[in-house]
Amino acid sequence: TESTEDKKNNKQTLLEKKPLRSQQWYGKLDKDGFIHRSWMKNQGLPDHSFDGRPVIGICNSWSELTPCNAHLRELADYVKRGVWEAGGVPLEFPVMSLGETQMKPTAMLFRNLMSMDVEESLRAYGIDGVVLLGGCDKTTPAQLMGACSVDLPTIVVSSGSMLNGKYRGKDIGSGTDVWKFSEAVRGGNMSLDEFMRAESSMSRSRGTCMTMGTASTMACLVEAMGMSLPENGSLPAVDSRRQALAHLTGSRIVSMVKEDLKPSDILTKTAFENAIRANAALGGSTNAVVHLLAIAGRLGVTLTLDDWDRIGAAVPCLVDLMPSGRFLMEDFHYAGGFPALIQRLSHVFDMSANTVCGASLGDITAGAECFNDEVIRPLDKPLRALGGIAVLRGNLAPQGAIIKPSAATPELLQHTGKAVVFENIEDYKARIDSPELAVDKDSILVLKGCGPKGYPGMPEVGNMALPSKLLAQGVTDMVRISDARMSGTAFGTVVLHVAPESTIGGALALVQNGDEITLDVSARRLHLGISNKEMARRKDAWQPEKSQYQRGYAKLYIDHVMQADEGADLDFLVGSSGSNVSRESH
Ligand code: FES
Ligand code: MG
Repeated sequence: TESTEDKKNNKQTLLEKKPLRSQQWYGKLDKDGFIHRSWMKNQGLPDHSFDGRPVIGICNSWSELTPCNAHLRELADYVKRGVWEAGGVPLEFPVMSLGETQMKPTAMLFRNLMSMDVEESLRAYGIDGVVLLGGCDKTTPAQLMGACSVDLPTIVVSSGSMLNGKYRGKDIGSGTDVWKFSEAVRGGNMSLDEFMRAESSMSRSRGTCMTMGTASTMACLVEAMGMSLPENGSLPAVDSRRQALAHLTGSRIVSMVKEDLKPSDILTKTAFENAIRANAALGGSTNAVVHLLAIAGRLGVTLTLDDWDRIGAAVPCLVDLMPSGRFLMEDFHYAGGFPALIQRLSHVFDMSANTVCGASLGDITAGAECFNDEVIRPLDKPLRALGGIAVLRGNLAPQGAIIKPSAATPELLQHTGKAVVFENIEDYKARIDSPELAVDKDSILVLKGCGPKGYPGMPEVGNMALPSKLLAQGVTDMVRISDARMSGTAFGTVVLHVAPESTIGGALALVQNGDEITLDVSARRLHLGISNKEMARRKDAWQPEKSQYQRGYAKLYIDHVMQADEGADLDFLVGSSGSNVSRESH
């Protein structure tokens, strides 16, 4: 039989005979070739740019409205150096950008839209491979989703995280300390003046959130899945070694084109399983659940919500970063970053997984050392013995819900309480601080109307703030349940992604004030204490509300978005259409 080496060589011989995809644009000696080349030459590209060498797209989500990605035009210049050096031609192009902290009603509403922009741009233009430049939470999954539906050779360079926040001599973390400070202000323990001064102390360099929020999580998972060079996940945005990494990435994508090494060769089920393990070991964001499910869907890889629990639940969380722990991304990098982490957990990961380097995950991280056992804990001193995400089921979430036990209060992981129900976010905001609200520390806060179709866009409001009268009594956590997501920087005993969502008549829609709810994380159970008969009666009486969105993208989204347990992609975007375009434009 053919050895892997033979297969590789045969593929290589075939490739040497076959002109690159870009030659379908630039290699023709007719009217169409003239049109494709001539207009490009107005940028000063010499004739030999079109002689059949790899043309590399640099898919840039740079935007001043996405501060976390605002330095990516500069970083693109380093990618270009590497592409030229390796004999390719780099062509940078902009795609939609999603500023997590800036977009209303939520950047998640636009993740799938951005993925369409990425997909169609990659397919329509005469490129052979692509470097994805992104960083802020939704840009990374959107770019990967789009790229996977085209399946040209692809590699990622992430923004890198901001330097550690520094406030009054202490490290403060993006997001995580915002939630803490705002509760301190509401509880009367911090002045508004101090609160305002903390703003500029928190975000004091270019880059993404420096906690283990969604941006850092996705950057590290990209590394875990073998879609970037090593250390891409943790190098700070301002570290000159990130510029060097961008340069090396530019060189590497040129070789990947020659090797025809595509996302479908790397993002196998094994890669996703490694990503799930990595998410547990990192104490990563709950948002990774919907993002990985959506990416897998584009590739036709069968990944389910239950895989998260099956593969990740028993993996220890070793990385002591906020929001689960104490430190920040700079510390993680200086401790050795992802290569050090995976070497410590090499018995847990599939180290034979393929990477963009053309070598296995084990090979490219071999010999990586840990330089700080406080930040990346030893196996016998994990931050949490069970680091993964727990998938809950029950009559309240027949299609599942999730919780991140590492960010929760251990005593609340098994809890029965009476529901305090908010019908939507406006209802919550109007009543949460009312002295009349009938709530105590054992109550369970239930928020409806925040799922993919309901909000729309499934916003990060699931870690809803506690009633101020309970904060004043010193209560620091309560069980909260919703069909929303929460910020990767957030914490608490928060049940998220309840499916089906309330807006389409899921059981969550039927919860009433005073109903008893049981959360039992060890039994993976989320139960509404009413009879099946009562449930059926309420379901019959339930009426859907008419959507306020009758046109435009929001309507398209609401009509086609799938539930959280399926990754919240649009149903017609699942799968891939490849990179072939046969018809000319003129
Ligand atoms: Fe962009 Fe956190 S808001 S990475
Ligand atoms: Mg976020």
